[in-house]
Amino acid sequence: MIAFEGNPLKVPAGISVAAALLASGARHFRSSVVGQAPRAPYCMMGVCFECLVEIDGVPAQQGCAVSVREGMRISRQDGAVELADLSFGETS
Ligand code: FES
Repeated sequence: MIAFEGNPLKVPAGISVAAALLASGARHFRSSVVGQAPRAPYCMMGVCFECLVEIDGVPAQQGCAVSVREGMRISRQDGAVELADLSFGETS
């Protein structure tokens, strides 16, 4: 079980976050930086960055490149990410 925008979703194990959300009917993964237009995955192979979501509090994660894990909390990526919000692999 994962959650997208607070809504619980039962999804198959071993698939990407983007595939899981698309299969669950989600079509608005992020909002564009300019104009706040709703965006959704396009390439599904890590090239277009249209699938950016926030996963467990970490912004700007490529949904097509991350596998679902039990208990994952996923939110839409709204607009640009502040540089200070990115951890670059650091643990605190
Ligand atoms: S869908 Fe293109 S980078 Fe994820």
